[in-house]
Amino acid sequence: MAKSSLSFVCQNCGAAYNRWQGKCEACGEWNTLAEEDTTGATSMPVSIRSKRKGRQFALESLSGKSQDAPRLSSGMTELDRVTGGGFVRGSVLLVGGDPGIGKSTLLTQATSMLARAGHRAVYISGEEAIAQVRLRAERLGLADAPVQLAAETSVEDIVSTLSEGAVPRLIVIDSIQTMWTDTVESAPGTVTQVRASAQALIRFAKKTGAAIILVGHVTKDGQIAGPRVVEHMVDAVLSFEGEGSQQFRILRAVKNRFGPTDEIGVFEMTGLGLREVSNPSELFLSERDLGTPGTAVFAGIEGTRPVLVELQALVASTSLGTPRRAVVGWDPSRLSMVLAVLEAHCGVKLSGHDVYLNVAGGLRIQEPAADLAAAAALVSSLVNAQLPTDAVYFGEISLSGVVRPVAQTAARLKEAAKLGFGRAVLPESARGEASSDTGLILNPIGGLTTLVAEIAARGTPRANREPRDATSVEKNATPARFRRENG
Ligand code: TYD
Ligand code: MG
Repeated sequence: MAKSSLSFVCQNCGAAYNRWQGKCEACGEWNTLAEEDTTGATSMPVSIRSKRKGRQFALESLSGKSQDAPRLSSGMTELDRVTGGGFVRGSVLLVGGDPGIGKSTLLTQATSMLARAGHRAVYISGEEAIAQVRLRAERLGLADAPVQLAAETSVEDIVSTLSEGAVPRLIVIDSIQTMWTDTVESAPGTVTQVRASAQALIRFAKKTGAAIILVGHVTKDGQIAGPRVVEHMVDAVLSFEGEGSQQFRILRAVKNRFGPTDEIGVFEMTGLGLREVSNPSELFLSERDLGTPGTAVFAGIEGTRPVLVELQALVASTSLGTPRRAVVGWDPSRLSMVLAVLEAHCGVKLSGHDVYLNVAGGLRIQEPAADLAAAAALVSSLVNAQLPTDAVYFGEISLSGVVRPVAQTAARLKEAAKLGFGRAVLPESARGEASSDTGLILNPIGGLTTLVAEIAARGTPRANREPRDATSVEKNATPARFRRENG
């Protein structure tokens, strides 16, 4: 009988140790080691394995024909945009997201679309009973779609069932943490089980050409729980984000072997499931606080698509020794940098003020191009000066206070003009790129000092102003999101 080998496996990164220890030396996380039985991923004893002669296989050329199109459109434009044009045959995708964010809804809709288009689409639920999945499909108005449904958790049973008949074009496994395989003895949900189950499913996908979507849970700190190891094995990792209290959901590619990783797909959760939002700017600007100091519209780019979004700032004097800096939807270190540049080069004293910055609508901005809009919103709040409501802002701020050009100036301006904006504040050096046919009034800025002076000239002295309520800034900043993003 094979000797069972117990070891301690880090549930974060998968590193294995002979004895328990408090800290994982591989990833530096504390208290992540759990005891697991790692008796071979294959049940064959080592003595037999080493004697087995390797099987010979045929070598192929790079060119060659596959019968079906290599990519399969899901029928949902926003989903296709994130995957890079549809599901690639034989590829495995991991979709992560908080519980209740809408992963099962999204994938039920995707499988139904494919099934209705005549493809074999399979939905395996390891979490919900058949009746629950049916209930959801009914709510979504998809009960008539010929999706093949099962509530199963044994990977061997799933692989053996799906090997029968035509190869499925899409298989959804909801979720990978509930799957288990006979080849390892640890409990379902442990790293060893998740890794072995994912490996078996990936092997099946590569062998048959079926596309597989694995659903993965996310821990409180925003990582796909347990199966960090799975992230390395799959072809693409998509993360489904949003605030439970808000309608918007954003699907983002974190890793993609077959497409770009900077594209986002925008959805709205409605009573009838997820609705695709093809023009996100309209959605993000739909609840603008017109005429409030401290708000600026940023003309951004997400992937290939321009997205306009409102940045909201609140600068309030503080009684704390260390003033508070809180930011939602943007990089906190970028905010610190913008604040430092404002202090050092523009004489804007913020050390006695709490600073809050929020990106409206639940979007998370990653571009440095948002610097200028953030600075404008901050100064506007500090001096209580309302910015022109028809202006958009974009540009990167360097440590010396110079406003630097950013990519895709023309696309940003075009989107702003399309949405009815009248002027754009942009880097001086990008003026050449900005074609005049958009009809926007351009206000090129060479240095941050100029912007500060322009906004200050519109301001009213701080002393005669009524205390302002903070709700406009914190409207989208739910406590949960603040805690998560600011620790
Ligand atoms: P679900 O897809 O079950 O989330 P996940 O699989 O990521 O855990 O979605 C659950 C939430 O979505 C639930 O709180 C209700 C909401 N919802 C709607 O608002 N409308 C709908 O049509 C459906 C099906 C769900
Ligand atoms: Mg679910």
